[in-house]
Amino acid sequence: MKILAIETSCDDTAIALVEASGTTSAPKFKVLKSVISSQIEVHRPWGGVVPNLAKREHIKNLPKIFDELKVKGENLKVDAVCVTVGPGLEPALWAGITFAKEIYERLKVENKKLKLIGVNHLEGHLYSFLLSQKTVNSKSKLLITKQTKKPNPIPYPLNPTFPAIALIVSGGHTILLNMQSPIKWKKLGETKDDAVGESFDKVAKMLGFPYPGGPEIQRLAEKGNLNAIRFPRPMIGSKDYNFSYSGLKTSVLYYLRDNPKTKKEDVAASFQEAALDVLVKKTERAAREYGARSIFLSGGVAANKELRRKLQVISQKLQVSFLAPPMNFNTDNAVMIAVAGYMSILRKKNRKFIADGNMGI
Ligand code: KG4
Ligand code: ZN
Repeated sequence: MKILAIETSCDDTAIALVEASGTTSAPKFKVLKSVISSQIEVHRPWGGVVPNLAKREHIKNLPKIFDELKVKGENLKVDAVCVTVGPGLEPALWAGITFAKEIYERLKVENKKLKLIGVNHLEGHLYSFLLSQKTVNSKSKLLITKQTKKPNPIPYPLNPTFPAIALIVSGGHTILLNMQSPIKWKKLGETKDDAVGESFDKVAKMLGFPYPGGPEIQRLAEKGNLNAIRFPRPMIGSKDYNFSYSGLKTSVLYYLRDNPKTKKEDVAASFQEAALDVLVKKTERAAREYGARSIFLSGGVAANKELRRKLQVISQKLQVSFLAPPMNFNTDNAVMIAVAGYMSILRKKNRKFIADGNMGI
């Protein structure tokens, strides 16, 4: 089936056309078109995303991007319209929902069977591992069989096997899930305060870099000494799978106040090491505890090369598959919404068309 997907939960206006087929245990996706219009320049002077500005920009950009998808003079032919309904900034979400409903009404005249599907943004990130083309550890399938505690793994065309541990890390979320199958999971833990991406953004701001800070910190860290400063690793030893990033951010603030002459590269590298250390240690512990056969990484922070490298190392050590989306599908996009929308269609699951800023997973 052909899916039109719309994503406006934060500061990216994104629309995609995706061809989807297969079952929940063997879905297939072909990206026909994906357009993202970034609002970074609009929000930059404010040091973060301003919800009403985001809404205004989405309303302006959606019709323009939509026109790019169409063959001139023809109506778009799709089987489903999928739109993010939460979590996110509510004014921004409403812009997408309203636009999706209008398109749905227009296209429904010609296709009475057209579906309108509300999608959870976090499921979008989660399922973006399905866009991954290869696993890092090609021998993993063979080797894990001996090690797995739980029988009956679900075979997958892309090689991820279950149970799996999924780490979703973005500007708004830090979540660890235990997935028993592609459609069944349990939340193991999440952040109790700031999200890890938010801490990257805030530390970058302290160092004088614009939003979004993640890529800037990564760039600086490559040139710095990660052992220069010993920043705290909040909750690294806690028995649960929760996270906390606000204390780490504050210790960077105090450190900079007391040591203003330290090289920015060393601060960035030491901060990044502390922030990632907690993510990697908890993911590894969860993978061991739940006998995982795969580790999935997603969300904007999944673009971080050092995080990918560290998780690859532990995946090889544990001999499990490691899957992360291709580089262009880490940060917000509409292809992941089409993928999660298709999984919702297969699961016969739909959501209310009401923006829900705090929707969980
Ligand atoms: O998933 P996303 O696009 O939006 C949310 O749903 O929040 O994630 C954006 C977050 C921002 O905090 C940004 O700084 C972070 O992802 N990010 C990174 C990197 N690229 C983006 N964090 C660390 N390293 C990166 N390379
Ligand atoms: Zn996101």
